[in-house]
Amino acid sequence: MIVETGKIRRRIGNQLSPELSAVMKVLDENCLAEVMRLQYMIIERLSRKDMLQPFPPEFMRSHLSEKGFIIGVLVENELVAFRNVYYPDATDQEWNLGSDIGFSKEECRRSVNFQMVCVHPLYRGNNLAYKMNCQAIRLIREQERFDHLLATVSPYNYWNVNTLLKSGFIIVGLKYKYGGKLRYIVYRNLKSTPSSLPETDQVAGLTDFQKQEKILREGYHGFRICEIPGVHTPVDEICDPHHISRIPERYEIHFSKSPVAGIHKHG
Ligand SMILES: CC(C)(COP(=O)(O)OP(=O)(O)OC[C@H]1O[C@@H](n2cnc3c(N)ncnc32)[C@H](O)[C@@H]1OP(=O)(O)O)[C@@H](O)C(=O)NCCC(=O)NCCS
Repeated sequence: MIVETGKIRRRIGNQLSPELSAVMKVLDENCLAEVMRLQYMIIERLSRKDMLQPFPPEFMRSHLSEKGFIIGVLVENELVAFRNVYYPDATDQEWNLGSDIGFSKEECRRSVNFQMVCVHPLYRGNNLAYKMNCQAIRLIREQERFDHLLATVSPYNYWNVNTLLKSGFIIVGLKYKYGGKLRYIVYRNLKSTPSSLPETDQVAGLTDFQKQEKILREGYHGFRICEIPGVHTPVDEICDPHHISRIPERYEIHFSKSPVAGIHKHG
């Protein structure tokens, strides 16, 4: 099923290609091998291996059938990006993120996950993750099965934190998941439309985890990521997949105490 069409550009060295036609669609099980190929290629190039939790083929396949769906972007019939959505069982401690933020069984039953998002390095900068998120949220809403959308994201993954906050998520928790990987738990209420951004009440560096934990424990939530004025660090995973990226040190998270519909007992 095609959900959107548009034009995007491919990176050629320091240049960009002319516009190319791109098709965004809901993938079927025949696309499993291509999804796995793109996942492995992206894992190879990550500046920190703990930024992405790899999925084995059978788990990935379940997203393509009864346990969720995957939106993909194709250019010239080649998969260049995907975003997957998962319907976790209410009692699934690993994947139902409602249990990480104190949801009741009923709330967990109405919770759905954004899982993995990948954009081929040559197609980054086209806002594809954000565009796939918007379409995925629309498709989830149309089902009328879920009230709560949750995801995890590594605080070291500036690009995905940025995309999720832009997509209307807020940061409600910080904890170790998936056998010891540090993750924000992010949340979006599916029944309400995100209103204008609240006032900033607290600020903490993206890598100042102690301060962030304290702020989150006090009931604030993170809603914005901003560059810290005057801080410069070396670049970047696309140029050098092997060094440890210091990009997260450039950013800070803004927190607010304004109440958020659907979140009432995290901590
Ligand atoms: C997170 C991700 C999907 C975002 O990709 P995207 O939608 O193309 O990102 P954007 O269009 O918002 O990119 C904005 C800018 O950041 C740059 N950028 C995005 N991701 C980047 C990355 N991982 N490394 C370096 N630069 C990156 C883009 O090139 C663009 O730069 P420009 O403004 O100079 O053109 C992508 O970084 C990715 O696939 N990462 C690896 C997989 C991953 O970590 N997924 C999340 C965990 S499941």
